[in-house]
Amino acid sequence: MDFLTLFGIYVGVVLTCIFLVCKYSGQQHSPFNKLLNYVTKVIALFTPQWLQRFSQSTLHRLFHQRNNMFIYLHILLEGAVYAEFTFEVFGFCREMDTTLTSLSVPYILLVVKTFLFYRCIKTDPGTVTKSKFSSQLHVYSYDGRLFHPGVSCPTCQLVKPARSKHCRVCDRCVQRFDHHCVWVNNCIGAQNTHYFLLYLFSVCLMAGDIALLTGDMLLHAVLRSGLLRASYIDDYGQQQPAGPLFVVQHLFLTFPRIVFMLGFLVFVFFLLAGYALFHSYLGIVNQTSNEWYKSRGYFCQHCHPAAIADHLCNPVPDHSKRYYYSRGLLRNLGEIFFPPQAVRKKDN
Ligand SMILES: *[C@@H]1O[C@H](CO)[C@@H](O)[C@H](O)[C@H]1NC(C)=O
Ligand SMILES: [Zn+2]
Ligand SMILES: [Zn+2]
Repeated sequence: MDFLTLFGIYVGVVLTCIFLVCKYSGQQHSPFNKLLNYVTKVIALFTPQWLQRFSQSTLHRLFHQRNNMFIYLHILLEGAVYAEFTFEVFGFCREMDTTLTSLSVPYILLVVKTFLFYRCIKTDPGTVTKSKFSSQLHVYSYDGRLFHPGVSCPTCQLVKPARSKHCRVCDRCVQRFDHHCVWVNNCIGAQNTHYFLLYLFSVCLMAGDIALLTGDMLLHAVLRSGLLRASYIDDYGQQQPAGPLFVVQHLFLTFPRIVFMLGFLVFVFFLLAGYALFHSYLGIVNQTSNEWYKSRGYFCQHCHPAAIADHLCNPVPDHSKRYYYSRGLLRNLGEIFFPPQAVRKKDN
């Protein structure tokens, strides 16, 4: 396969991944998603009806009903990266005297990440239940702006505690609701936000560390091949030094899988680092992403009937006001890492 075809496939796959991840994994109301929705509409004009219907029902099942698809996809991608690292990069790194200690860091991170991932999936995010909701009501106070007292969830038929929201995917109300994450097939709420935050950071570290080791290996491969000093004869018979493009092309053709993996890791790293920083910021100022979007009026652009019933709409978003109640960095983080527990009502 020649370089351009390979590169075309590569760019196509990466762009598709970026598109899918951005469109479906995150917040439905960000300005970026509006742009994507527009792109989707334009694409829809050129696709046949049956394909549209098929993809819509598939997407509905994937993103609006609980399923483990993304957990499997996650494990698959991770397995592919670690297999590639273990069977190709590891050997090269050993040859160029990278220590076993630094080569074992990715595996240690994998263990830590797997634990956090498991906790995100298995921890109850703080489901509002009949037996607990009377004590859940008192965990946070109503602010009268984003959350009003005495509003019931039309589906669960329970009074909604402040900061809670009904998750339409899981069909339950969740305390201190942040968002529903398809990658862990669970909501992120009061009881698992800390696992989620640590999980994001561990994935970033993992991707960053493997990317650095791989980059180091490729750099050595280039230096060893002497390509930087190489030259070629151009169409006019002149000798030209092989430029960076030449080096990239060489790497692409010699180590296609490794370069592909590196590109993927760099992409994952920057995407998740941005996301992790955003969530750290929210944690530091005592806000959930649900509240962040709400206070900026994002939900109102699409006033969905269910959203109105859910009291999601804040008809006149007031951008000048801060809608969060920060009691200082330590206390805000304390609340995430040691979430207030709602006790079960004593039967008597
Ligand atoms: C965080 O904000 C909520 C209101 O949204 C408030 O009830 C809670 O006490 C605040 N927590 C801290 C630690 O400031
Ligand atoms: Zn509900
Ligand atoms: Zn959910």
